[in-house]
Amino acid sequence: AVGFLGMTEWLAPDRFRNVVRAWERLGLPEVGITYHRLHITIDSQHAAGWFHNVVIPSADTAYMRRGIARGALWRANSSARHLDERLDLARLSAGRTPVAAG
Ligand SMILES: [Fe+2]
Repeated sequence: AVGFLGMTEWLAPDRFRNVVRAWERLGLPEVGITYHRLHITIDSQHAAGWFHNVVIPSADTAYMRRGIARGALWRANSSARHLDERLDLARLSAGRTPVAAG
């Protein structure tokens, strides 16, 4: 969980940045984007706090470091599978051939 949750917080700011960029590109109302804009900074702080207060203190043995790395990879892989699936659906709806996720 240490690696999994750390990776979750680490990925969030870039995702919020992408949402904000798309929101602005589409000209959607400002009222709906405040949460996402705030969380670019908030989740950057969460990620830094998690790293300094949880990851570093927990990574005192090779066993823990392997577990943290395993959790981070689980999160990154689940995210990749989800995004590959979303990309395939977007490609299908655009009349393009989906790229099969491995
Ligand atoms: Fe957060």
